[in-house]
Amino acid sequence: MIVVGGSSSRDLAKELARVLGCTYIQAASTRFPDGECYTRIDSDTLDDDVVIVQNTYPDGNLVEMFLLQDAVKRMGARTITLVIPYFGYARQDRVFKSGEPESAKTISQRLAFICDRVITVDIHKEDVLKYFNCPAKDVKAASAIASYFKDKNIDMVLSPDIGAAGRAKEVGERIGKPYDHLEKTRLSGTEVRIQPASSDCSGKNVLIVDDIIATGGTIIAATSQLKEAGAKSVTVACTHGVFVNNALERLTGSSLDGILCCNTLENKVSHISVAEAIAEALKSKW
Ligand code: R5P
Repeated sequence: MIVVGGSSSRDLAKELARVLGCTYIQAASTRFPDGECYTRIDSDTLDDDVVIVQNTYPDGNLVEMFLLQDAVKRMGARTITLVIPYFGYARQDRVFKSGEPESAKTISQRLAFICDRVITVDIHKEDVLKYFNCPAKDVKAASAIASYFKDKNIDMVLSPDIGAAGRAKEVGERIGKPYDHLEKTRLSGTEVRIQPASSDCSGKNVLIVDDIIATGGTIIAATSQLKEAGAKSVTVACTHGVFVNNALERLTGSSLDGILCCNTLENKVSHISVAEAIAEALKSKW
């Protein structure tokens, strides 16, 4: 097996190759002066099972993925597996208002033109996997998050909404601590309202787990609710730290006590690795 790392996922791709004990090739990706993507895989042949690790977010990375798929195929890959650590567009998984596209389906179907298998990590809606028209698996980051926090003095695990309750349950069970979920109402793209927690969090070290932090609105509202309810500390761990509009700076300057995310998107706080979980999925039966 050969792992090819695209420009969005260098550290994760390299670590994945190390865990799998296989060859790693870093694609040399740059931008032309007009912004178009150029990429090249410096190898004579890829006559093997090839894994491309590359995000499809933001849009420029999607184009790089398309180009890598073509390059890998031309170089003789026997099979092509796409590892998409952060798959964008999963939130627009259906037409909400007439005139809209089915974005998730559109992107998945195009990615499936050149590949045999797909792996995503905590994709926002798992239903999207069926659009790839090839075997597709979603790897869960909960085990990596739980391993990281196992010895970190956490008293309870909460999700900010019922949609992420399963993640709080899995992390809570793995670290042997109680878990629950908060009730969230989205008021706008950047604002949410969080109801007071029904579980007693007074004097407790709370870990909030979520799949995505984008604007940070959800986590800021949840933290202030929990602090008002007497939580001793509030730490957040998310899978994908998207952090738009200086969200990471706003979060680190808030009353939050700690912020960690997985290395599906590489940034200053992406210290939880999902490489082992992806390697397991690659080695498992399909
Ligand atoms: C929502 O369903 C997701 O799980 C996240 O809670 C949401 O995307 C976070 O967004 P933001 O950081 O902008 O509040």
